[in-house]
Amino acid sequence: MGHPMLLEQSKLIEEFDTPELHLLIKDMIETMEAEDGAGLAAPQVGESIQLVVFGFKDNSRYPDAEEVPFTVLINPTIKILSDDKEDGWEGCLSVPGMRGLVSRASHINYKGVDQYGQKIDRNVEGFHARVVQHECDHLFGVLYPMRIKDMKQFGFHEELFPEESF
Ligand code: NI
Repeated sequence: MGHPMLLEQSKLIEEFDTPELHLLIKDMIETMEAEDGAGLAAPQVGESIQLVVFGFKDNSRYPDAEEVPFTVLINPTIKILSDDKEDGWEGCLSVPGMRGLVSRASHINYKGVDQYGQKIDRNVEGFHARVVQHECDHLFGVLYPMRIKDMKQFGFHEELFPEESF
């Protein structure tokens, strides 16, 4: 957080299934898994392009979260499907060690393509919807602390959740 690229709108991707794109995605997946993140956006690794990866089965950073299918999502658009919102704790690999309570739409539709240009079109809810909204925010220069309504609900993970192990 603080790097200017994280505050920019990133560019649409126009070429798919290229060696450069596959290599970047491989690096992003390795970084996400090494840090035990739920997702990662290209601007977080120095590429200002509209690419996010997300998904996990069991995540020690989010022990109560339901499984999210592993997804490479490019040039995404999000539509909010209902007025329902949920508060949930978020973290981010660009804001290490911190957690904040963020309100997100509970039900969304997201569309985009994968690394081969194949269409993705899903209606999702809960933590899956949260992860997609968080990651896609990165493509438009928004970091989750900007969405925290009550800054008393922002702090170090180990202070907010002392019962969890690290
Ligand atoms: Ni993030």
